[in-house]
Amino acid sequence: MDLVPAPTGKSSSLKSPVVEVEAVDMAPADTKETITTMENTAAVGNEAMQSEYETDSDDSGSDLEAELEVLHDEELRCGIPDACSLDEAIAFRNRLHEVGKAVFVQETIGADTITAKKLCTAFGILPPDFLDGAPDSAYHPLLAIAISREFSRRPKLPQYNSIEDAVKLLKESKKIIVITGAGISTSLGIPDFRSKDTGLYSKLEHLGLSDPQEVFDISVFREDPSIFFSIAKDILPTEKKYSPTHGFIRLLQDKGKLLTNYTQNIDNIEANAGVLPENIVQCHGSFATASCVKCEHKVMGDEIFGDIRKGLIPECSSCRKKLEDDSLKPQGMKRKRSTSATQKRRKADGEDSSDDDEDYELPTPGVMKPDITFFGEDLPDEFGRRLIHQDRDQVDLVIVIGTSLKVAPVAEVPGVLPRNVPQIYISRTPVSHTSFDIDLLGDCDVVVSELCRRAGWDFQHEMIPAGEKVEVSNVEGYESRHMFKVVGA
Ligand code: OAD
Repeated sequence: MDLVPAPTGKSSSLKSPVVEVEAVDMAPADTKETITTMENTAAVGNEAMQSEYETDSDDSGSDLEAELEVLHDEELRCGIPDACSLDEAIAFRNRLHEVGKAVFVQETIGADTITAKKLCTAFGILPPDFLDGAPDSAYHPLLAIAISREFSRRPKLPQYNSIEDAVKLLKESKKIIVITGAGISTSLGIPDFRSKDTGLYSKLEHLGLSDPQEVFDISVFREDPSIFFSIAKDILPTEKKYSPTHGFIRLLQDKGKLLTNYTQNIDNIEANAGVLPENIVQCHGSFATASCVKCEHKVMGDEIFGDIRKGLIPECSSCRKKLEDDSLKPQGMKRKRSTSATQKRRKADGEDSSDDDEDYELPTPGVMKPDITFFGEDLPDEFGRRLIHQDRDQVDLVIVIGTSLKVAPVAEVPGVLPRNVPQIYISRTPVSHTSFDIDLLGDCDVVVSELCRRAGWDFQHEMIPAGEKVEVSNVEGYESRHMFKVVGA
């Protein structure tokens, strides 16, 4: 089967390379910068981040940054020799945001009140072993990265902490951006990607990929589409159902509060819940349509679902018809077949026969690829256009639900919105690379239904038992982090 032609090399905006966000956060500073040039470095970094939505940005950070070991707040809380305590770290971070980078540097290492080595730990960087015994100035480049990263990070708004604050925000806000990920569909039996043991990526060892994310890599797809189609049936939307969290987004729409749902999900389930297309940006595309990688013929997604469910590679009907028509015309020169990926692999493995005649065959139809955004492909133009030119100036509340925020550029959306706009995070697992004002942890269906209950909203869904009782407890050590648990119905 002929595959998509190699990319033209056209550069475009909003590329979505697979990047762990911890690495992205560290990206802006040049490690060769000294402390005195930190201000400029950070400014450049911020600009790059802002403009990533409109211009090319292939910044993937330096080798040094990639090798840095991240120190999590939980580790600081437990105490690490020669590192700041969590309280000290928080105080340093707050001070940085309060006075800016230049004054902060003067007050700290400039005034010899702390070493650069120790100060790095306040910003989540573990001093690397290879610098052991080096003079403190050797830690300055690391500190530059750490300070730049922290400064470009959105600081938590101190006035929002409790569930009551969350409910009040929900009731009062009128232009809510909801950013969603795979966690909002897991209660329907669709796996997310990164959850340990249950996520899709934990189940792909048998494919022999160096990284399970390659299953969604466009160059891998071009090389061998069968890899993607061998798992596609597992993530294909099934019945026309939707989870309570999808229902919650619909409720926000009904109340006239939904500005935009930026979804990374490709299952198109928002539509089942009645969220209107004009209120959704499907950042990573969806299964709703599919296109031929060769002639770009587009069909409704369900036309290829049958093949996908059978584990077959769907072929383009338009290409097939054209080939049939061509075959009825008088034949000229014999045409050379493009070699299939499997054959190429066999050749690479040395299995190929030396019979040159094998290279001559008829062309075949293109592969139908669901219109989902693979790693290495651009996000839909609508994503950057709407975010930057429409929503950014209107949004009054951000709710992020069921995503690990590990994939750029969606992961960077919270950081490009105005800093005074409150942000709430709802998921089973907290994230540490982005600061939210309130973290509501637990099953998102439970969290959203409890929020609605407390808001006095009539929210019903067959998966939410009538009279459900939810216990909410504060996570020790975090004023704004709350755990939701069903305790009865
Ligand atoms: P992930 O699997 O990375 O994250 C899902 C998050 O949802 C995790 O933090 C889970 O703990 C949480 N979660 C799972 N079930 C939940 C539930 N019932 N209630 C609350 N939280 C729950 O998925 P995404 O962040 O969506 O991209 O992944 C982003 C992108 O990475 C995907 O769009 C996909 C993937 O590679 C492409 O394929 C291009």
